[in-house]
Amino acid sequence: MIFTQVSKVNVHHDVIVPCRKGQLEHLQQFITIKEPDFNGEFATVQMVYGAEGNRIYLLGLGEEKDAVKVDEAFQKLSFNYKKYWKKPVQVITEGFTDTELQKVIIGLELSAYDMGAFKTKKEDVKALTFEMVSSKDVTSILKEAKAIGETINRIKTLVDAPANQKTPEFLGQWAEASAEQGHYKCTVLHQEELKVQGFGAVLAVGQGSANPPVVIVTEYMPKKGGTVDIGLVGKGITFDTGGLSIKPSTNLHYMKSDMGGAAVVLGVVELVAKLKLNVNIVGVVASAENAVDRNSYRPGDVIQSYSGKTIEIIDTDAEGRLVLADGLSYIIKEFQPKQVIDLATLTGSVIQTLGYSAAGMFTNNSQMAQTLSKIGFDTNERVWQLPLFAEYESDLQSDIADLRNYSGKPVAGAITAAKFLEAFTDAHKAWVHLDIAGVSFGDSPYSKMKSASGYGVQLITNYIKQILDE
Ligand code: BES
Ligand code: MN
Ligand code: ZN
Repeated sequence: MIFTQVSKVNVHHDVIVPCRKGQLEHLQQFITIKEPDFNGEFATVQMVYGAEGNRIYLLGLGEEKDAVKVDEAFQKLSFNYKKYWKKPVQVITEGFTDTELQKVIIGLELSAYDMGAFKTKKEDVKALTFEMVSSKDVTSILKEAKAIGETINRIKTLVDAPANQKTPEFLGQWAEASAEQGHYKCTVLHQEELKVQGFGAVLAVGQGSANPPVVIVTEYMPKKGGTVDIGLVGKGITFDTGGLSIKPSTNLHYMKSDMGGAAVVLGVVELVAKLKLNVNIVGVVASAENAVDRNSYRPGDVIQSYSGKTIEIIDTDAEGRLVLADGLSYIIKEFQPKQVIDLATLTGSVIQTLGYSAAGMFTNNSQMAQTLSKIGFDTNERVWQLPLFAEYESDLQSDIADLRNYSGKPVAGAITAAKFLEAFTDAHKAWVHLDIAGVSFGDSPYSKMKSASGYGVQLITNYIKQILDE
């Protein structure tokens, strides 16, 4: 998509005219009908022809409360009508705040997302041009929003990619290519190096797969002095069969998306570097395929994690917390980040708890919780806090090792998973865990089956911008 700015409406071009519910006065400059059959209901569209045969799209923005999802209205409109657009399409942007305009551009950019990456017959895709009609200079907003939209599309491509393509090594190559393009640092620790450095949990989860595990370390450090402002850790399970504690086959194909947390981490570091934000950021992705094989790790095995702590494996399907444990210990020991956020499609339990409407948030840091909650509402990538009470710890006590990876009881699963992770944060004072199992991948109006949502890129990027201001 190409976004440009123009100062005047060109009556020969198609034009998108956003309308808030019940506020239709400004329509009179575009249409002659006195009372159009349209009231501005959210994401509704009324197309009318202009005097020059051009198309005028009245786009409903709904009410005040719908402003946080104005991107959705534009995405839907563009997705449904882009096939008719041969010439630049104008967008009336008068009345939008800068934040809303950013969402408008992101929504339009997201409508370019192509799910059919593996179809042999390619649709004829032509870059669309949108002309933003605005009297003030919005070029920097256009540029930034386009970069955000493009990054979201790139991580959706990753999450939707099939597991036979996106092996752990493939994620490593993706990160290396991104780092080279974006002039930041990327190191991929391959299996042999993981053995040398003692990533026992990542290795255990990955040992049943022909595709060896990796740990990806990305660094964007524009500030002087090595202090890392924020460290991100992502769960990068490229396919989760459950291992020997095998999952049922219903919907198993969706477990290709078990690297949604990793995708957010890779996307955010790429975006922060692209936007040249003045923040020192490190992203760590712990990636493995949880497969069934004679070499698979077993229930009952005891493994030693990167931290040195030993873990008794009760259920090989609780693999995400294992790879994250190593990722968290590693980032905290190697980089001492001032703040740490991990993202993971960690539990089915968080879906039982919050459904598809918010990520589960776990932290002892009320400041971070508050800021993330607020930004979650503003970006419409919501988080909802759940507790880390000490009582839950007893669920993780093992008779034979330092901890076990599952209590064996189907209660408070998202919380006990978070408690497990907490044991590997070295009591870090500014750690947040986001369980994104319900929000990272799901139903979409643009796909027949579940697909990647892109959740998290805006939440974390805006959070990082926020701490820049502090
Ligand atoms: N990747 C799954 C969690 C998941 C489930 C993500 C559904 C997205 C949709 C995770 O590795 C898992 O299997 N969790 C188990 C843990 C249990 C065995 C302790 C779960 O939540 O059932
Ligand atoms: Mn699992
Ligand atoms: Zn998993």
